Amino acid sequence: MASLVSTWSSNVRSLPKNFVVPLEKRPGKPIPICKDIPVIDLGDSTKHRRADIVQQIIKASQDFGLFQVINHGVSEKMMIDAITVGKEFFQIPVEEKEKFCAESGENGCRVYTSSARHMTQDFKYWKDSLVHRCHPLEEYIKIFPDKPAQYREIMGPYSVKVRKLGIKILDLIYEGLGLTEENFDNYDLLLMIHNYPACPDPSLALGIDGHRDGNLVTILQQDVYGLQLFKDGQWLGVEPLPYAFVINIAFALEVISNGKLKSAVHRVITNSDCSRTSLANFVNIASDEMIEPAKSLISPSSPPVFRSFQFKEYLQVLSRNNSDSEATFQYFKIGSQDSK
Ligand code: OGA
Ligand code: NI
Repeated sequence: MASLVSTWSSNVRSLPKNFVVPLEKRPGKPIPICKDIPVIDLGDSTKHRRADIVQQIIKASQDFGLFQVINHGVSEKMMIDAITVGKEFFQIPVEEKEKFCAESGENGCRVYTSSARHMTQDFKYWKDSLVHRCHPLEEYIKIFPDKPAQYREIMGPYSVKVRKLGIKILDLIYEGLGLTEENFDNYDLLLMIHNYPACPDPSLALGIDGHRDGNLVTILQQDVYGLQLFKDGQWLGVEPLPYAFVINIAFALEVISNGKLKSAVHRVITNSDCSRTSLANFVNIASDEMIEPAKSLISPSSPPVFRSFQFKEYLQVLSRNNSDSEATFQYFKIGSQDSK
């Protein structure tokens, strides 16, 4: 039987050996919250304000690859309900929860410990995740968990709203990059609900190691501190602001922007006081579409920095690289030693 960390973690007093991460990956000394990470107010998009919002988003995406948004159109009630039901999923009876651990393919609903793509590693991350696609909702709501009882009625509308927010943010980013050829409605949405239980020894464990997301943008809701951003050679703490979403620029968008925007390298640390829940909403290009530097950003003086690929090729390369997102990044970068 698969055994999820959330099922047994409260019974252990020390960190099981297979969750001890290698020395060089350990979190090290406590990292303070960084107050410089931009918080962007998306409310009031009158014409003048809109230009200002576009500027702020582009600057944050260049400087940090990550920012937070407030007044984003998803109601406080919807956010509380979503994170509450996400947390509750990990508290339903073990047998119910572990039903989802069976292999159900890319289009099913999966639950696993650590990371689905890190199976070959000899250590595990201190987290459980529930993963399913959300769009189109009519097609996928059937595969959403049916427990807790309100899961579908809460997560259905939440996913629609969050996807709309993703499209709005992409729209603002494309405007800022001067792109007009991108289409704005054919996006996928994948939801991952992560549960990082209170950890007996946060200094030896990790929730998830440093990585870049592979999609376009990730819209993240979090309850307690744990997320860190790697910038200029150091880790910075990302503040869990009530009712804000963390937006991080992911790899496919860095490629489309031809390197003008930076995808964020981020990780999650654990803590010993309480469990942490996050809802990571991955907005992505449809899986059969080409990801490539936008034609209007290419010129003799600005040659392509990445080669073209389909998202499924990205996943293959990531898997071949044992989920090392840095090696995968280099593979698609033109002129890098690893690119083919
Ligand atoms: C992810 C991720 C961060 C978090 O799912 O890719 O980085 O706070 N999650 O759970
Ligand atoms: Ni991530």
